[in-house]
Parts: sequence; structure tokens; C-alpha cells
Amino acid sequence: MKLLVAGGAGFIGSNFARQRLRDHGDDVVVLDKLTYAGREENFGDLLGDPGFIFIKGAIENPVAVEQAIAGCDAVVNFAAETHVDRSISDPDAFVATHAVGTYVLLEAARTAGIRYLQVSTDEVYGSIDEGSFNERSPLNPSSPYSATKAGADLLVASYHHTYGMETLICRGSNNYGPYQYPEKLIPLMVLNALAGDPLPVYGDGRQVRNWLFVEDFARGIGTVLARGAPGEAYNVGGPDECENIEVVKRILELTGRDDSLIEHVTDRPGHDRRYSLGSEKVRALGWEPELRFAAGLERTVAWYRDNAWWWEPIRSGAYRDYYARQYGRALGA
Ligand code: NAD
Ligand code: DAU
Repeated sequence: MKLLVAGGAGFIGSNFARQRLRDHGDDVVVLDKLTYAGREENFGDLLGDPGFIFIKGAIENPVAVEQAIAGCDAVVNFAAETHVDRSISDPDAFVATHAVGTYVLLEAARTAGIRYLQVSTDEVYGSIDEGSFNERSPLNPSSPYSATKAGADLLVASYHHTYGMETLICRGSNNYGPYQYPEKLIPLMVLNALAGDPLPVYGDGRQVRNWLFVEDFARGIGTVLARGAPGEAYNVGGPDECENIEVVKRILELTGRDDSLIEHVTDRPGHDRRYSLGSEKVRALGWEPELRFAAGLERTVAWYRDNAWWWEPIRSGAYRDYYARQYGRALGA
């Protein structure tokens, strides 16, 4: 099978591309605009593989998409702006990529007559105090990030309803693991702890997330691509939920630091308190998460400790300006 993996230079897309090439023998074409979060370092080990092609381009550019989709059997779309805090301070690119980009990719897949899988998020359902969302729960997004992701989901569903296209949607919970950009909770806290910088916890830190190891999500997407019913959405949730403050304390233990590095900072505006997904529908297709959070977090901390070559250029580059704007203090200060 030859797959077009849009957004394959990012965290989850590059892990998915690696899994498809190595474990499934697929050919993979990555189309990626290389935003600050998309990096060739994420798939450097795949570049010599004869089944791997990288094309630099945006999903909202029909010419780049036409070139990338040629000869492909399916499209998997990871391409997105993905950080909630950036969507609050600067929503522009979120609208362009999620609305126009998804539309351009859908049109190209429709013309090619191939299957299209949209990678989406539990955030489209909004926050839930108790219990879990299923795929029939109403969409109730909170941030410009999740609202534009929800809009993209609706557009994808309309292409099945209207044109009979073979579309699928996978809604994942919070991913963690190797190659995640350090603006996100786990890598940010790991790198700050390793460096001895304060760990900025939003509000009381009692918000709950449902943690999913990235390779488990990648396998879930593969399962839905192979066995999902056209027109359907599938939740892919992690095996464990955890309060942020507990995640942070565990990271401090794993890095040999103590709680004095914790700093409670101003909360994120409109902060969702808890996400939770029921994933029975994808389990019925044969998927199960393999890694529990405790083991996955240990593995992730070890990866960041051992792969400074990957994150040092980030922490010494433009990320410093982002960090200073977001947290009102310089890294290392
Ligand atoms: P990421 O920010 O690490 O990567 C996103 C990638 O998309 C980058 O390589 C970036 O360069 C590329 N990109 C952005 N805009 C583009 C455009 N217009 N054209 C082409 N490429 C573009 O994100 P991630 O965490 O790997 O998330 C991938 C997908 O999974 C997203 O759709 C996200 O909404 C979804 N998701 C993420 C999580 C999570 O916890 N990270 C959970 C569930 C779902
Ligand atoms: O739930 C899936 C979503 O998970 C994905 O769709 C998003 O792309 C991804 O970014 C993630 O969104 P969150 O907002 O849940 O992830 P983030 O890592 O930004 O934050 C996780 C929690 O940690 C959240 O409650 C906010 C909190 N947090 C985050 C940062 C960056 C802090 O307390 N301090 C921080 O510095």
C-alpha cells in the first residue's frame, strides 16, 4: 500500500510513517509544510529508505497536494496546528490549515477515488466532569484549536454523506512519547526538569488528561484505516488518566529532582478540566493500547535524556522567544 501521510514531519505523523514503513512494508509519501513543529530530524532515519518520499508543501496548496497524492492508495491527514495555547494567542493559521487545508486534501482524495482518514482529537467533544464521551456525543469544542478541528471533522463527514467518499475519523486522546515538540506538557516538563528550570503548572494542576503512548495511537490509526467502516468516527483513548500535577511530580522523580521546581502560574483561558474517551468501537476492530502510562512515561523521559541532539537546537532557537512570551520569563532564568 502507498500512503500519503500529510503532516508526517510532526510528532505523531513521523511515528506513524516509521511504523508503516518498518512494520507493514508500506510505501510512504510525507507532505509537510515544515512549520516550527515539523522537522526533518523527526524522520531522518527514514530518508534512505526506498519506500519513503518527502515533499515539502502545504495541504492548502492544490499543486503540492496533486504531486504528493499521485499513485497513493489512501490519505492519512495529520497536518495541523496543534498547540492550544498558540491557538489562543494567534488563531490565524489554525483556521487556514484546518478549514482550507482539509478541504483541498479532501478534494484531491475525491478526485483520486481513494480512502481518506482524518486524524482528530478528543478535544472536539469539550470537557467532561465524569464518565466518557462516545462517538455519538455532541461536538462542543472550547478553544480555537478544537473548534477548527471540529469544523474539519464535519467537513470530512460531509464528503461521505454527500459524495459517498470513503472517509474515516480517528479521535485520539493526549499523546506522549519520542519526538514531541517541547511546548506540550510532558516534554516541556521533562526538559525543564533536566535543566533545573521551574515547571510551570497552569492553575491548580488538577486538570485530567487521558494519556496515550504515540505508537499505540499510530497502531489505532492503522487499524481504523484497514478495518474502519466508511463514514464512521472512532475514538482512540489511552489506558490511563492522570491529573497534571501527578504527571509533573512523577517526572520530577524520574529526573531526580524535587517538588521545589513546581511553579503554579496563571491558568490557560477557557481551560478544559477533563477529557475522557470511551474507545469500545475501535477495540471491536481489534485494537488495544499496549503501554500503560507509568511505563510509557519512564520510556519517554529516558528518550529525552538520551537524545539531546534532537531537542538542543529547539531549546536554543526560536522556542526561547515563544517560551518567554508564553510564560513571561526566559528559559534558564
Ligand atoms: P505536531 O504539531 O507535532 O505536527 C503537526 C505537523 O503538521 C507538523 O509537521 C507541521 O509542519 C505540519 N503542518 C502544519 N500545518 C501544515 C500545513 N498547512 N500543511 C502541511 N503540513 C502542515 O502535531 P501532532 O501532535 O503530531 O498532531 C498530529 C495530528 O494529531 C493533529 O491533527 C492533531 O490535531 C492530532 N492529535 C494530536 C494529539 C496530541 O496529543 N498531540 C492527540 C490527538 C490528536
Ligand atoms: O487531548 C488531545 C490534545 O492534547 C491534542 O489534540 C492537542 O494537539 C495536544 O496539544 C493536547 O492538548 P492539551 O491542551 O491537553 O495538551 P498540553 O500538553 O498543551 O497540556 C496538557 C495539560 O497540561 C493541560 O491541562 C494544560 C496543562 N499545562 C500545559 C502546559 C504546556 C500546564 O499545566 N503547563 C504547561 O506549561
